[in-house]
Amino acid sequence: MLVSRPVPTLAASSTLPITPGQTEGPFYPVSFPTDMDADLVRVQGQKAQAVGLVAHISGRVLDRCGSLVAGAMVEIWQCDAHGIYNHPRAPGQKRFDTGFQGYGRTQVDATGRYAFRTIRPVAYPGRTPHIHFKVHAPGVGRLTTQLYVADEPQNATDGVLNAIRDRDARASVIMRFEDAGEIEAGALKGTFDIVLDV
Ligand SMILES: [Fe+2]
Repeated sequence: MLVSRPVPTLAASSTLPITPGQTEGPFYPVSFPTDMDADLVRVQGQKAQAVGLVAHISGRVLDRCGSLVAGAMVEIWQCDAHGIYNHPRAPGQKRFDTGFQGYGRTQVDATGRYAFRTIRPVAYPGRTPHIHFKVHAPGVGRLTTQLYVADEPQNATDGVLNAIRDRDARASVIMRFEDAGEIEAGALKGTFDIVLDV
């Protein structure tokens, strides 16, 4: 039996999948750290760098047509290597790694690209490893989401990740880390392009 299928329009076939929005969660900073640059592994005034595996995460901020979104600001926040957030309501707050910045922000450059030096995220009770992202593109759009790590066993049961019902959309927020020895000994790297619904 012949089944008629809708023919994709040129517009539909030339657009990128939109990065799905996800909850901000309870630990967005209530006050910003003095040092909130794009290097979360080093904190001004702290001798020790962050505990954890260094990870270089970069990508572009795009619109659905694949054009670069100029002027976008990207924020990230995550727990330290022991699963503790730098937030007054976070469990274990007194044990937060003072060598870890916990939050950072950066503007995209002229090529629409952002880059962070941070640590590979770890699991904490009830959540698979993830990094929170917020993107603000003034006059264009904004997005709050979370980024995950490929092959983490807890991805299969994480409630926030699996609330993204569409398989391709879910896959778009799961990143594979690779060795980044050419950038920094022992470090990892990964690419996460963010597509705004604009
Ligand atoms: Fe979180």
